[in-house]
Amino acid sequence: MTASTTRVTFSDGQTIAGMAAVEPVTGPMATPTPTPFPAPEIAAARLLIDLDALAANWRTIAALAPGAETAGVVKADAYGIGLEPAVRALHAAGCRTFFCATIDEGIRLRRTLPDARVLVLNGLLPGSQSTFTGHGLIPVLNDLSDIARWQDWARSLGRRLPCAVQLDTGMTRLGLKGPDTERLASEPGRLDGLDLRLWLTHPACADVPTHPLNRTQLDRFRTRLQHLPAAPASFCNSPAVHLGPDRHFDLIRPGVALYGANPTPAAKLRMREVIHLKAKILQIHRVDTPRTVGYGATHPVDGPARIATVGVGYGDGYPRSLSGRAEGRIGDHVVPLVGRVSMDLTTFDVSAVPEALAGPGAEISLIGGGVDIDRLAHAGGTIAYELLTGLGRRYSRTWSGTGADTGSDAGTPTITGREGTV
Ligand SMILES: Cc1ncc(COP(=O)(O)O)c(C=O)c1O
Repeated sequence: MTASTTRVTFSDGQTIAGMAAVEPVTGPMATPTPTPFPAPEIAAARLLIDLDALAANWRTIAALAPGAETAGVVKADAYGIGLEPAVRALHAAGCRTFFCATIDEGIRLRRTLPDARVLVLNGLLPGSQSTFTGHGLIPVLNDLSDIARWQDWARSLGRRLPCAVQLDTGMTRLGLKGPDTERLASEPGRLDGLDLRLWLTHPACADVPTHPLNRTQLDRFRTRLQHLPAAPASFCNSPAVHLGPDRHFDLIRPGVALYGANPTPAAKLRMREVIHLKAKILQIHRVDTPRTVGYGATHPVDGPARIATVGVGYGDGYPRSLSGRAEGRIGDHVVPLVGRVSMDLTTFDVSAVPEALAGPGAEISLIGGGVDIDRLAHAGGTIAYELLTGLGRRYSRTWSGTGADTGSDAGTPTITGREGTV
């Protein structure tokens, strides 16, 4: 790139002389990289993503709520596994309604699935109305001003516009609070011109089945719905699906369970593993005399021992809080993580593994392949959601499967939602 001194004119006509402008780059440097992920042969770790398992998990969850439509929550790049392949697989499994968080995720979704219902959870940012209608996205309206803005836009276009409305029943995050919900109930004209597809609320404590807020939120939701114009309703995230059919309403919104996590420890159903992260051993250290491993010299080794270093660290979303607290796997062999996780490197004690299986180039499973993502997250003081959405961009990525039902373990896709759902 070359910089030059020039006169820059802004779109409002203002001109500033003498500002450095950057000339456009031409030639090979201007070519965008075709994929943001390295090829397997040059990556220190491989992320294998099983789209058939994703689809099977969707079917499993759907079978738990046979009276409701089962949507797919695919925000944050489908919880880190890749939005486009994930939504194609879920669509092949029968999913027709998708929730994302942001407008740009919605646009990507729409480009991938022209006929899907795409709802944007984070609401209608001021100025985003034409983007919503231009891409056929449905906003989740989270307060009275969102509703008014969408209504104005519908009026200006002279047509009814679809929307969902979120009610806050105890999460205190997004959604209409009690008084605003009452106002909406007593002034239903606020919804004129809008095609209300869904009332939704979000449970705060569904992963703790005994938490009293679960009942409180359910009761509040039911009571509020009685006073509001009739429309389909939705309460459940993944863990709430396990709390019973009284929460399923017309549509369930599972996210993390689709990606192989089991957020409700008590649930009998286990989700299928969707991701498998395998890191190559870069180097083996033979320890024959006492020494320590890694930053802070936190892990003493007397020897004899073999320490394997892999090229994955907290810079890849493998949390530093796992230092000394996690395990990897080489086949059936459990290999303890020793010392501190550093930015690009982590060390495992492979002394108990036959040398032929644990040399440079051999792979250690860090997530999946026998390493349970929920247990791993717990060991690091976090949750599977964070491990998934933090999956690094330095891994190569391979997606296998299509999501189509092969008849093996999948069960019947269930979209038996009542007519008129979202
Ligand atoms: C409004 C809403 N619905 C559904 C989900 C999916 O939740 P889970 O991943 O726990 O299934 C989320 C995720 O946080 C959410 O914010």
